[in-house]
Amino acid sequence: MRDAVIATRFTELVGVRHPVVQTGMGWVAGPRLVSATAEAGALGILASATMTVDQLRSAVREVKSRTDAPFGVNLRADAGDAAERVRIIIDEGVRVASFALAPSRELIARLKDAGVVVIPSIGARRHAEKVAAWGADAVIVQGGEGGGHTGSVATTVLLPQVVDAVDIPVVAAGGFHDGRGLVAALAYGAAGIAMGTRFLLTSDSTVPDAVKARYLAAAVTDVTVTTKVDGLPHRMLRTELVDALERSGRAASLLRAVRHAAAFRRESRMSWAQMVRDGLAMKHGKDLTWSQILLAANTPMLLKASMVDGRTDLGVMASGQVAGLIDDLPSCAELVDRLMAEARAALHTLPGTD
Ligand SMILES: Cc1cc2nc3c(=O)[nH]c(=O)nc-3n(C[C@H](O)[C@H](O)[C@H](O)COP(=O)(O)O)c2cc1C
Repeated sequence: MRDAVIATRFTELVGVRHPVVQTGMGWVAGPRLVSATAEAGALGILASATMTVDQLRSAVREVKSRTDAPFGVNLRADAGDAAERVRIIIDEGVRVASFALAPSRELIARLKDAGVVVIPSIGARRHAEKVAAWGADAVIVQGGEGGGHTGSVATTVLLPQVVDAVDIPVVAAGGFHDGRGLVAALAYGAAGIAMGTRFLLTSDSTVPDAVKARYLAAAVTDVTVTTKVDGLPHRMLRTELVDALERSGRAASLLRAVRHAAAFRRESRMSWAQMVRDGLAMKHGKDLTWSQILLAANTPMLLKASMVDGRTDLGVMASGQVAGLIDDLPSCAELVDRLMAEARAALHTLPGTD
């Protein structure tokens, strides 16, 4: 009984052992973390928005060289080179395509025709309804307590709302770190849980130790939401840098954004023409100003400074509120085994129903 599997519509759809997902986190969810997650029996998702197309291809091949288990790739449907990235996913036989923003109906159809499972992440019921109508196989629904870009509705409200609205499997994200959370999500009607912050805080994650230490030391109240990084609500650890960003005026913000846009262009080996094309794609159908688009380059550069370079003074540390509940760095295998044991125990300690 101890090792009994908790099978759900999600585990059947994707072919993983456990109903647990490690989400695509820029600069964090690389081949090492993803393959360790896959080997642990959960679904690992590579973050590709912060990789060039060539880096994505070699990252996918590296994961395949480390594990035979299914894994996914997270990409931006509005990136100028999205078609090339989709081709890599199809050619390399990647099991799951995950999207931060809703992909088009055509893109979903193309991936599904090639046998790829399509799982967009959404933060509102109407987005879930839209992608379900377009043929998405499942959705990850992220409540406001989740790390990175986030909404204002808590998982406990958003999750049942989305479960009631769509017929496809719903994976719950935002605020999960243990087996009790998995059982609670299943009780709401979810088919599994997805976690970002908890997987960042494992020994398999490549985030520098000094940065992990900042997360471990954080209390729930040390996690805040700011719109000053890129104009969108972004949940992260509150640091001196974040306080300074909150105080800075519009001119200083734009100057910083221009610097970061130039750095991002160098890093991503994009031409200015490509950057403008991507900006236009982001703008399409949305009420964004050019200064907001410029600000978007802030996120990858500020995240890289901490997640790769270990500069907690110069970078931001995207984080869910759940960082305040986490105080260890297990391996992915230890984490998933422990979480599943906790979930089985929680199921057995629920009050009887007679
Ligand atoms: C450091 C960090 C980076 C993230 N980067 C991305 C990203 O590039 N794309 C994306 O779709 N979500 C990103 N997210 C959001 C996560 O994928 C996930 O939805 C979120 O962390 C779930 O909430 P939790 O942290 O409470 O588990 C990021 C989150 C963190 C903590």
